[in-house]
Amino acid sequence: MNNNHNNRGASGVGHKGVISAVTTALLDLFSRQEQLPGLPDAQRIDGKVCLITGANSGLGKAVAIDLARRGGHIIMACRSGIPAAGEEVKRASGNPNVEMLAVDLSDLRSVTRLCDQMQARNIKLDIAVMNAGLMPLHARKTPQGYEIMFAVHFLANRLLLARWCRDGVLPLQGRRADVPRVVFVSSEAHQSSAPIDFDHFAAFHHYGIKDGMKFYGQSKLHLSTFAQELHRRLNPNGELNVAVHSLCPGPIASNIARESPAYIKPILSPIMKLLFRSPQQAAAPVCYLACADDMASRSGVYLHMMREKQPSPLALDPSNGQRLWAMSGDLIQPFLHTNQREKECL
Ligand SMILES: NC(=O)c1ccc[n+]([C@@H]2O[C@H](COP(=O)([O-])OP(=O)(O)OC[C@H]3O[C@@H](n4cnc5c(N)ncnc54)[C@H](OP(=O)(O)O)[C@@H]3O)[C@@H](O)[C@H]2O)c1
Repeated sequence: MNNNHNNRGASGVGHKGVISAVTTALLDLFSRQEQLPGLPDAQRIDGKVCLITGANSGLGKAVAIDLARRGGHIIMACRSGIPAAGEEVKRASGNPNVEMLAVDLSDLRSVTRLCDQMQARNIKLDIAVMNAGLMPLHARKTPQGYEIMFAVHFLANRLLLARWCRDGVLPLQGRRADVPRVVFVSSEAHQSSAPIDFDHFAAFHHYGIKDGMKFYGQSKLHLSTFAQELHRRLNPNGELNVAVHSLCPGPIASNIARESPAYIKPILSPIMKLLFRSPQQAAAPVCYLACADDMASRSGVYLHMMREKQPSPLALDPSNGQRLWAMSGDLIQPFLHTNQREKECL
């Protein structure tokens, strides 16, 4: 029997809440388990083309500044903060080579427009940081009718990568000395999610503040499973064509809780400021996966902050990855305009 079969439906999604997710993160934050060394300031990525989604705020902006300081050509793929956030990244990094491209990742038509633009400009990515994310107060439908976290955390990335691989935006043939890298910002919340409900795949379900964290974890399980499947598909038979990594940055004092109700904010804000890491600190594992020499010769690595861990067994299971790939392939197909032969590869 397939262990993914989940008869509990979406109401059975996940089984732990925000408190357990934060507790795990804090325990890991203060654990003595061996950590990776930080990336030295001297590590340069001069001229490398780096795209970061959701780079106008929080973690994404901190990553954009760090990669710009290291000499990258920065493309901030954002739906807001244009052009102010780009100017801020230029000022903070001293690197004028920063541009912003508009995209709303909850709308697959907008994702398609971004891909068309990148293809037309013949952009070749060296580093892609798939960072954008959100925690809505309650379920919202995207223009294509999907639940918004499913769409932003997973489906938009699925379409972006399918287009980039097809269009050559992500060069798969060793064009340069270094292979390109793709870094997915996931969350430890994926570890406590119930299996992907393939029987109701991509179905919209209503939820409110009480269940939001469960659906957040579920959407990040989709993303973590996709990251592992992409890693296997792009690097068959031990080849290394693209370094595909993922991570949880740990709890961050960012804008992620912006939708939380007014009565929670007076409690949450001081807790976040006191206990959570700054976006600059949280950027360390992202930049390590994106720039460190030892991460160019590996793929499929998962970090929780600066510790290497295993993603959940569900995310690692190739049968889940194949199923997710095939079922989401059908969803993005109308936005790809491909023939059947191409479809099988995407
Ligand atoms: N904060 C934490 O404790 C924590 C813990 C684990 C993992 N993470 C992950 O870290 C990542 C960054 O989050 P953060 O903490 O830095 O939060 P944040 O400050 O709220 O930043 C989130 C970014 O995602 C963008 N975004 C959201 N929906 C989008 C859409 N439809 N189209 C385009 N961009 C969109 C936001 O753009 P707008 O400003 O336009 O909305 C913003 O730039 C997320 O993937 C999050 O799940 C965060």
